[in-house]
Amino acid sequence: MKQRIRWLVMHGIVRLFAKRIARRGDPQGRLIADPAVRANPAAFTDELRAQGPMVKGAVVWLTVEHKICNDLLRSEDFHVLSMGSSLPKPMQWVMRHTETGLLHPLEPPSMLSVEPPDHTRYRKLVSSVFTTRAVAALRDRVEETAVALLDELGDEPGTVDIVERYCSQLPVTVIGDILGVPDEARPRILEFGELGAPSLDIGLTWKQYRRVYLGIEGFNDWLSNHLHELRRNPGDDLMSQIIQASDDGARLNHEELLATAGLVLAAGFETTVNLLGNGIRMLLDAPEHLETLAARPELWPNAVEEILRLDSPVQLSARTATKDTEIEGTLVRRGEGVIVYLAGANRDPKVFTDPHRFDIERDNAGKHLSFSGGRHFCLGAALARAEGEVGLRTFFERFPDARLAGTGSRRDTRVLRGWSSLPIALGTARTAVSS
Ligand code: HEM
Repeated sequence: MKQRIRWLVMHGIVRLFAKRIARRGDPQGRLIADPAVRANPAAFTDELRAQGPMVKGAVVWLTVEHKICNDLLRSEDFHVLSMGSSLPKPMQWVMRHTETGLLHPLEPPSMLSVEPPDHTRYRKLVSSVFTTRAVAALRDRVEETAVALLDELGDEPGTVDIVERYCSQLPVTVIGDILGVPDEARPRILEFGELGAPSLDIGLTWKQYRRVYLGIEGFNDWLSNHLHELRRNPGDDLMSQIIQASDDGARLNHEELLATAGLVLAAGFETTVNLLGNGIRMLLDAPEHLETLAARPELWPNAVEEILRLDSPVQLSARTATKDTEIEGTLVRRGEGVIVYLAGANRDPKVFTDPHRFDIERDNAGKHLSFSGGRHFCLGAALARAEGEVGLRTFFERFPDARLAGTGSRRDTRVLRGWSSLPIALGTARTAVSS
């Protein structure tokens, strides 16, 4: 019953309201409820752009302007907003009285929904372990994992769902290795991730909400046991180091540690799977780029930036004003929220010439905001870039004749954007893979 009430307040009412206002063309309603927006976010962000730099939705503002997004993410006057705090006061009361005790990525103490000093404490802890050196050392591991996964595919030529067999396996194996997740637990982690992925969206149906809840609950239980096990029996993995650092200096309580470790693990595979799937699809649709990359492999890092720019795995974030602030002539009042539309900023013609064109040689592709910016800039960006680059290059070098064998289907999520399945005819495998 408690769950039903919570869903009703957090999603059910929001969903009904969003559908109603979407019919009137309200952009926030459309973002939540219009299937056309999920199908073609670029067309939607172009519409927003035509309406001005700051567009008012029923409750929050929306912006697709690169400069504003960039400034907001770095501003001291705008803080991250937790899912609950964006609701009207009476609904917040209901939320407090229907607490589930489960950790949610958009509720404190998740790093994504807190600000200094707590944010600094959590972030310092992870960065003390997830150093540039540690990540650079992981590159070989990424390559070995990619090669091993492709070896398995090479043994069974024909049509495969590349998302299931490769794009999801590579990130979960890499982050699993890093965080000391035993091999046999990976399928369960992927299952929790699949169930929990819509947790970043609002306006979920009861069925979706139940699935998310089951995913988060299963993940929490599993992670709690995993941390307990590593504390008793530490390995040489980064998760054991995070626990050690937490016990030694950063002093995170159990809930904080669970939320921080859980976010690193979940963010480590929920997003990169989309980068790989989006990249494979975009490149198969643009064979001329594959030819260029085969002749000039040094272009791969830039190609990955361009893929991130054009099909951002995380479409948007949100911030709330901590005081009345004027943005390009628009007054945003204290407490008002702003949707920082990362995917829209990535197609701002003021920054990117001919913004809808896929151009792997674009000289400023890396100016995209797909990893956000400021204090909350993605902690895993270097690892994600390495996985994107090595994962895509290795795939296309191994299967140069790969082609689409069906239309595939998109994931049923709005904040996260990627493919849930992509059927690919692999063609003949090349055995030699250059490093
Ligand atoms: C293509 C892959 C990825 C994309 C597009 C991505 C994107 C993002 C974005 C947009 C944010 C910030 C959200 C905000 O400002 O509200 C973020 C934060 C974060 N990401 Fe990633 N991410 C990716 C991969 C990873 C990986 C591989 C890891 C872990 C190894 C990771 C760990 C994190 C963490 C811990 C945060 C929270 C940082 C903070 O709040 O201070 N991400 N990511």
